[in-house]
Amino acid sequence: MFWLLVIFRWMHILGTIALVGSALFYWQVLLAGNVFGSGDNANKAWQSLRGRWARLVMLSILLLLVSGTANTFLMVKSGEFKQVPAGVYHGLLALKIGLAIVVFLLMSFLTGKTAVAQRLQKNMQLWISISVILAVLVVMLAGIMKSTSCTSSNHDKSEPVLSLRHEPTRLLSPCETAMIFPFQTVGCAPQTATFS
Ligand code: HEM
Repeated sequence: MFWLLVIFRWMHILGTIALVGSALFYWQVLLAGNVFGSGDNANKAWQSLRGRWARLVMLSILLLLVSGTANTFLMVKSGEFKQVPAGVYHGLLALKIGLAIVVFLLMSFLTGKTAVAQRLQKNMQLWISISVILAVLVVMLAGIMKSTSCTSSNHDKSEPVLSLRHEPTRLLSPCETAMIFPFQTVGCAPQTATFS
């Protein structure tokens, strides 16, 4: 179970890097620097870039959807969902998922080839900036959620949330503890947290 969780975390972080990083690079480097110029050459360059970027976007969306759904499912199954501050955490998660879906749709259209996609691509500057801003907002919401769940007053310290998630069978090694709780603060799962 420990490694499954680590794999979901890797998937979520790598998906985020690929989606947000590639959009930011396109917006602030390729578009702002007018790298493609104009005319036929610009169109050819865009077409060759679009296909590759679309594959990267699809892969990141898949990684984020699978790992995000798995994380949510694990939280519900372990009871962790009842321990986070009622209302605040759940509201933030709902908002995060809603915004994430908007970002997925926008990024799919901006790298797609349907008629609607082509219409949006005519105003690339506007839509790519909106996508990046919304995606950064999603990352910021995730940061608040993570801190909220760590410092929750509902948190029963005798049963660390993260140990509940993974049916405890053994003590974590210091190395595992550092990987799971890199920014451990008072109120987060203690060193003696157990993991299967
Ligand atoms: C644009 C799409 C998304 C981005 C950029 C994003 C980004 C992030 C980041 C950076 C984290 C913190 C990861 C960590 O510290 O290990 C996170 C956590 C999380 N994400 Fe996402 N995410 C996205 C979509 C989703 C979706 C679609 C779901 C659900 C279906 C989801 C559910 C979660 C959950 C449950 C957590 C754990 C929060 C916690 O530990 O309290 N995410 N996300």
